[in-house]
Parts: sequence; C-alpha cells; structure tokens
Amino acid sequence: MHDRVLAARLAGLGQEVVIGTRDPRATLARTEPDALGTVPYARWAAEHTNVRLLQLAEAGAFAELVINASNGANSLAAIEGVGAENLAGKVLIDVALPLDLSQGMPPMLTVANTDSLGEQLQRAFPEAKVVKTLNTVFCEVMVDPSRIPGEHNLFIAGDDGQAKQVALGILESFGWHRDAVIDLGGIIGARGSEMYMRLYFQLAQLLGTFDVTIQVKRGDTAGR
Ligand SMILES: NC(=O)c1ccc[n+]([C@@H]2O[C@H](COP(=O)([O-])OP(=O)(O)OC[C@H]3O[C@@H](n4cnc5c(N)ncnc54)[C@H](OP(=O)(O)O)[C@@H]3O)[C@@H](O)[C@H]2O)c1
Repeated sequence: MHDRVLAARLAGLGQEVVIGTRDPRATLARTEPDALGTVPYARWAAEHTNVRLLQLAEAGAFAELVINASNGANSLAAIEGVGAENLAGKVLIDVALPLDLSQGMPPMLTVANTDSLGEQLQRAFPEAKVVKTLNTVFCEVMVDPSRIPGEHNLFIAGDDGQAKQVALGILESFGWHRDAVIDLGGIIGARGSEMYMRLYFQLAQLLGTFDVTIQVKRGDTAGR
C-alpha cells in the first residue's frame, strides 16, 4: 500500500509514475482487502488513472528513477526482478525496512549491525546509485511532513552525492525542508536509520499511532 501513497503523491506533483509488480494480472485480479485492510489494487487504480501498473522489469525499463517500496525482507528479489540492466546509472531510492516479524512486534531486522538493506542493494546492483531515505517515518508523513506539526528530521545516506541531491529534490517537493534532512554520509549510514525501526515500532505501539518522528537537537556543549 505504501508504494501507492508515494505513487499518488508523485503523480499529483506532475511526475509520470508507474508501479512495478511481479504479476500485474494477479495484482489486478484481487478483489478483497489484504490482511491490513488495504483496498484491492484495482479499486485504488480506478481512482488513480494517472498511475500505470507494469511488470517489474517493464517498470524498470521505463523509469528514469526507481523507488524501492517493496517488502524489505524480499527487496533483493524484488529489485532483481526490476533488472540490473534497468538500474544501471539510475538513482534507486530505498525506503524499505528489512523487517523480521517472525517473533511478533516490535520487529527484528533481517540484517543489522554490520550491514543493512541499503548496503545489500548497493552491493547487488553496483551500477545503481542507492540512496536510503524516508524509511524512518510513516508513508503518509513521507509525502506530507506537515502531517506532524513542528520541526522534525529525516535522514539520507548514499555513496553518490549527485544521487542524494536528486533525492533531496524529491523530498523538497514532498514538503521537507532541505535543512531538516540530515546527511549520514555513505550508504553505510543506512544501518543506523534501519536499526531505529525497533524503537519506532515500540513507540508506535505505546503511543497508538504511526505518526511518530524524530526531532534531532544538538546541545550547546561543544568543547566543554
Ligand atoms: N507503510 C509505511 O508507512 C512504511 C514506512 C516506512 C517504510 N516502509 C517500508 O516500505 C516498504 C513497502 O511497504 P508496504 O507496507 O507496502 O510493504 P509490503 O506490503 O510488505 O510489500 C510491498 C510489496 O513487496 C512485494 N513483495 C512481497 N514479497 C515479495 C517477494 N518475495 N519478491 C518480490 N516482491 C515481493 C509485493 O509486491 P507485488 O505483490 O505487487 O509484486 C508487495 O506488494 C516496506 O519495506 C516497508 O517496510 C513502509
């Protein structure tokens, strides 16, 4: 469902957007809401005729920029479906969370500490320019930060500086101020923002909302 939130917002901003899926016919054939109550794709698509649904590789071939909003535990397989040849030289914005829900909530991670999904993707697709961002907030907040009043921060990590600038442009179009986006450096910075997920989901449970965010404050104690 998360891909739909991003797709609708980008299309509303005038971008030409396609959603990639493993099997378009199966995706369109679903008539029942999923386990989380998300409406079937076909019903959503009827109200979003400006977004096309394509098979993963077709979507990859079409796209100038790719956003990985696939199930994080299966993102390597999903992006393999997009095709390394379709990613070469392109910015790949990775918003996915490598969640392991096998032990319930709060989730564990399928990769952590010495590696991250962002790094796995960069290694698996070396010709893509992977940028990890947006993954620390709920999808509705990603595309509209004012949903949570006041100042709050987002993080960005990636090895390619130009690719990060492209991603920052998209974040700005969503309403994020450039100075609210903290650059964690290379894609290795994805480790920290992905590992925050354990705390995020615990807070979401405690507070009863997914509208949880981070405001980073720096104490004036430098040099003391
Ligand atoms: N929802 C949020 O607010 C939020 C916030 C931050 C980050 N995220 C992250 O954003 C991503 C998307 O969120 P979501 O809630 O839409 O996730 P999701 O429902 O778990 O998965 C999204 C899509 O991943 C694809 N997928 C699942 N298993 C696959 C497999 N074995 N191989 C290839 N593709 C597979 C499926 O696409 P098809 O069936 O169409 O092929 C599925 O519709 C996740 O990684 C999530 O953790 C979400």
